[in-house]
Amino acid sequence: MENPDLQKIVADAESSLPDVSNKPQWEQTKATFLGPNGSLTQFAKGIGAVAKEDRPAFGKALNQAKGIVESLFQNRLTAIEEIEDLKALGDKIDPTLPSVSSLQGGLHPLTKTRRKIISIFRKIGFTVAEATEVETEWFCFDALNTPDDHPARDEQDTLFFPPHSKWANIQRKKDESYLLRTHTSSVQIRTMLREKPPLRVIAPGRCFRRDTVDATHSANFHQTEGLFIDHKVTVRDLKGVLDFFLRELFGEKVETRLRPSFFPFTEPSFEVDLKVPDLGKLSNKWIEIMGCGMVDPKVLGLVDIDPDEWTGFAFGLGIERVTMLLHGIDDIRHFYQNDQRFLSQFSSQV
Ligand code: PHE
Repeated sequence: MENPDLQKIVADAESSLPDVSNKPQWEQTKATFLGPNGSLTQFAKGIGAVAKEDRPAFGKALNQAKGIVESLFQNRLTAIEEIEDLKALGDKIDPTLPSVSSLQGGLHPLTKTRRKIISIFRKIGFTVAEATEVETEWFCFDALNTPDDHPARDEQDTLFFPPHSKWANIQRKKDESYLLRTHTSSVQIRTMLREKPPLRVIAPGRCFRRDTVDATHSANFHQTEGLFIDHKVTVRDLKGVLDFFLRELFGEKVETRLRPSFFPFTEPSFEVDLKVPDLGKLSNKWIEIMGCGMVDPKVLGLVDIDPDEWTGFAFGLGIERVTMLLHGIDDIRHFYQNDQRFLSQFSSQV
């Protein structure tokens, strides 16, 4: 842009802008360059006096100057608006307002149930025991008095590791198979071998069965085991502890009953049923909730606890099952699909 008049107009625009500090002033100043009587507009009118062959160069220079002036004004406007926005906020910022909600993580419903169960049993002196998910046949079945021909040992029911696999940190007898534990009852054995009675533990954890997945079955699920060993423990103690637990979980109005059942490692064995007045579709119906029984003296003997001195009870319940009952969830697969629409319904209830 060689035209000195245009250069001056651009320079004038540049030097006048720093003093422009609000919108009306900006409009006014802009008009002195780009308005109908503005210097650039006036300059453009001079085209009549320009020789024909020089007109294209004149027009090009004019447009170039106009472009520069317009962008100078646009930048200044952005700066003015920013300053005005900040001024408008001024001291009026209320730091006590909650922040704009952002996506917040929440605990998985199964984690919540597990924590709830733990906190209830903590109140009555239970501590948490844990053990491996990979087990040997001895811990999962033999030590729990489960006969060799019990169907649970079948390869159709239990996930076994190939015979040559090795888990250095899990002892096994020669040629014994490793498997994925089918219940948390193996933790009873590990606890009794590690600690001397009296014992009060709960053992929440993951279990595996060769189940075909459907609305109520999953090959991978969670249980909580309980074990109580002391002097002169009776079925009354078992019933008392479970009633306390189920009242804390399902409310004061829960009714419970023990129904005779069979497990190889408890004698006598029971299923616990419960009835709750406000449980959606299942209100006022007897529902099976867990297995339990008095620890079989044979099991105590296998882990070197004298059954004449010590007695105890054990129980096991499914964490998925409890969560489904508590929240009216009708399909176990929801827990594992990571669908935000499902999970976010639980995220606010920490
Ligand atoms: N382990 C049993 C099951 O998975 C439940 C149970 C635990 C029963 C402890 C009695 C005592 O079905």
